[in-house]
Amino acid sequence: MSTARGVPPSLADSLPRDISVAAHEIGLLEELTEEARQLGFGLPANLGSAIDKRRREYLAGRISAGHALRQFLGPAASEGDIVADDDDVPRWPEGVVGSISHGAGFGFAAVAAADRYGGLGVDVERVVSSRQAGRLRVRVLNEREMSLRQGAAGGLTEAEMFTLVFSAKESAYKALFPRYRQVLGFSDVELERREAGDGDAGCGELRLRTRVAREGGAVRRLVGWYVLTSGLADSAGECASRAWTVVAILPCDCGGRSGVAAQRSS
Ligand SMILES: CC(C)(COP(=O)(O)OP(=O)(O)OC[C@H]1O[C@@H](n2cnc3c(N)ncnc32)[C@H](O)[C@@H]1OP(=O)(O)O)[C@@H](O)C(=O)NCCC(=O)NCCS
Repeated sequence: MSTARGVPPSLADSLPRDISVAAHEIGLLEELTEEARQLGFGLPANLGSAIDKRRREYLAGRISAGHALRQFLGPAASEGDIVADDDDVPRWPEGVVGSISHGAGFGFAAVAAADRYGGLGVDVERVVSSRQAGRLRVRVLNEREMSLRQGAAGGLTEAEMFTLVFSAKESAYKALFPRYRQVLGFSDVELERREAGDGDAGCGELRLRTRVAREGGAVRRLVGWYVLTSGLADSAGECASRAWTVVAILPCDCGGRSGVAAQRSS
């Protein structure tokens, strides 16, 4: 199991040990500010006058990143601020790849060694309504991807499958962009396979691919891990089910099951 704090246990259980993840609830601004202070950072100057929601999301994302880095580098590590570059990509310490997300009430981050993975991306999303999924699916999924809704371990609803593919593509983008600096649309990344874990359709592994224009259209394969957590609608009537995804560029793009199996057994 990877080191994990605050993330759904089924996601933590399925990730390779060399990926460190953490999540933190997007709570009240005062509490988040204090937690950030204890981790040694604060809001950047450009967010001083941002709306409350943006400041809380930023802090919850960076707090998650701070915890993931401490798990990864050790409690004595002083990682400092994780500032963003001109493309909004977080700058990680030397030798580290990572990613930050905030949504569906949580900040979420993952880090790993840059010599183990070519890039990492994470995303957390609230599962959309079936009506939204029906309206948006043509922009995000192709027919082949929708067919991966059914699997040996049982099927996902259309809304779950839509949200899962959307989230996995967002994670793939965040893994790829820092390395290739190439803007991609939803049709540029394809979900090739979904494998449910241990007879449970709500968690498992993913295989994705894309073509990198800057490398003459070479195919790059990615591996992902997902979990769908269920929950009742909250007082505002919003669905509390969430999709959590982590996507990694495999080292040397050696790809396939052997790469993952090798990481798990190490
Ligand atoms: C970058 C992007 C994927 C972020 O997704 P989002 O759902 O808006 O927001 P999330 O909360 O999940 O993630 C935001 C975090 O991603 C990180 N991020 C922002 N731009 C990034 C980029 N180009 N590459 C990697 N990470 C990025 C930042 O850490 C940001 O948080 P911060 O501003 O607090 O530091 C999205 O805004 C975007 O630019 N999309 C266009 C490309 C796309 O979606 N293509 C379809 C999928 S292939």
